[in-house]
Amino acid sequence: GMLTVRAPATSANLGSGFDVFGVALSHPADVVRVERADRTTIEVTGAGSQYIPEDPEKNTVGAVAEALDAPAHIKIDKGIRPASGLGSSAASAAAAAVALNELYDRGKTRKELVPIAAKGEAVVSGDAHDDNVAPAILGGFTIATPEGVTQVDTDVALVACLPEIVVSTRDARKVVPERTSVDQLIETVGNAATLTAGMYRDDPELIGRGMEDSVVTPARAKLIDGYAEVREAALEAGSTGVTISGAGPGVLAVCREDDQSRVASAMLDAFDDAGVEARAYQTRIGEGATVY
Ligand code: HSE
Repeated sequence: GMLTVRAPATSANLGSGFDVFGVALSHPADVVRVERADRTTIEVTGAGSQYIPEDPEKNTVGAVAEALDAPAHIKIDKGIRPASGLGSSAASAAAAAVALNELYDRGKTRKELVPIAAKGEAVVSGDAHDDNVAPAILGGFTIATPEGVTQVDTDVALVACLPEIVVSTRDARKVVPERTSVDQLIETVGNAATLTAGMYRDDPELIGRGMEDSVVTPARAKLIDGYAEVREAALEAGSTGVTISGAGPGVLAVCREDDQSRVASAMLDAFDDAGVEARAYQTRIGEGATVY
């Protein structure tokens, strides 16, 4: 038979947790349908599908099917356009990993599927990061290190604002500074710990404060027209913290429930003033991949 899995957009880094932290968004999401076959074929529809290769050697889900020894007809309906900073390729890879594990009864746990989905991501980004696939599979807030993944369920309102700019992860990694100072190390540890405490308390105040980062984010902000103005506008509208979503160009704002629509409008207006078209998702930290 056929099996359908929905996997959510995700936001990696959260400022102070570069290459480690991630959250699942309640929406948007990719939907993947799989059916057993002798060899893998891939069909892609939806947001930005014209930019996504259907050749299994070049598509994120091809590597996942290979790793699980699970050939299938795979249909991907993209709710998340590629090069957004919202974990587009990770969502497809996560959905495929969960779907094919089920379809072929491979018996892997959700946590075991994380590195398998990450292999798919590596096809696209050049290197494997678990910080998007972990929340896409497990949901909530995730701390992904080479030693394993820690997951925390949490519920906080977010605005993910996506400008019509393309920033490739490859380019965004080139601008990351190679060295940092001990002062910045201390600041980063403090912020990352504050953010983690905030996730346990569902506290937008602590999470927002803990997203501050003076190492990676300022270097990448230069790749996003209007970033400084959008950040300022969101904070003025009541957001408790703003940072680049993943490698960008998406911008993520944390807020209290009541401020969400005001924050979304302020961010859209600021991008508009900078001459950049954008859309805003009023979303929240949500569930991981769901099997239908
Ligand atoms: N942590 C990664 C980065 C996320 O920011 O480059 C994208 O894979």
